[in-house]
Amino acid sequence: MGKILLMQILKTIAEVRQWVQECRRAGEAIHFVPTMGYFHEGHLSLMRRAKADGGRVIVSLFVNPLQFGPQEDFERYPRDFERDRAMAESVGVDAMFVPEASEMYPPDFQTQVRVQRLSQPLCGRSRPGHFEGVATVVLKLFHIVTPDRAYFGEKDYQQLRIIQQLVRDLNLTVEIVPCPIVREPDGLAMSSRNVYLTPEERAAATVLYRSLQWAQEQVAQGMRDAHVLREQVQAQIAASPYARIDYVEIVDAETLEPLEVIDRPARIAVAAYFGKARLIDNMALNPPSG
Ligand code: PAF
Repeated sequence: MGKILLMQILKTIAEVRQWVQECRRAGEAIHFVPTMGYFHEGHLSLMRRAKADGGRVIVSLFVNPLQFGPQEDFERYPRDFERDRAMAESVGVDAMFVPEASEMYPPDFQTQVRVQRLSQPLCGRSRPGHFEGVATVVLKLFHIVTPDRAYFGEKDYQQLRIIQQLVRDLNLTVEIVPCPIVREPDGLAMSSRNVYLTPEERAAATVLYRSLQWAQEQVAQGMRDAHVLREQVQAQIAASPYARIDYVEIVDAETLEPLEVIDRPARIAVAAYFGKARLIDNMALNPPSG
């Protein structure tokens, strides 16, 4: 009979360092998936990709208080450790780092990092301090886990760009692997926050995907005017009685600066409330060349 390899649960930084040392001694690469738990197919797709790339896979599960504003959903953010543990194990994750907040942020903790320009637009405007919280915890996790590769979903596109910039600016050696958005059959982007939706809000929320897809088709057919396209997408979403729009923006895919003319790789990004849930989504807008 083959050896049964159970996923290890690591609670302290010291335990992670020990685990990493053992992997390194065995000549294994370390592939890392940072998460806040309450797993869905989107998370599992990152873990499967990390596994398929070889090496040993470690997932962190930490609802990071630093990235939630005082009026946000830190307390009620969905949590289910036993379910998460079983799901991660089922896709072959080797270790899960599940620290207490005091392990990550001892009482005298006082350092934060800020990726200046990329943190300002889009979600940065309505969630002050959010991306500083993300960049700080991810940098800490990178120093603790010392991964060769780390996997991030494109659903949090601004977060992905910020982490890529952080890695470049601070000369980190980890390779960031962007992974595509995973959607429900009707197009709704998977998110742990989808559990906040009532059945009516859940049905209405598909307008986000439909309007983004429509925008993508317009650009593929030659539409260049970002202002007009943005207004049209906004109108489609606003037509839903359940939607309260935070923003609809068309931005340069690299710098996240707003575009007037879609003449380069761009991204359309939306954030809207459906009841208590603040949902985000985005899609690539690639103007045909020539
Ligand atoms: O995307 C997330 O789940 C979080 O922002 C991350 C990257 C795990 C940092 O807390």
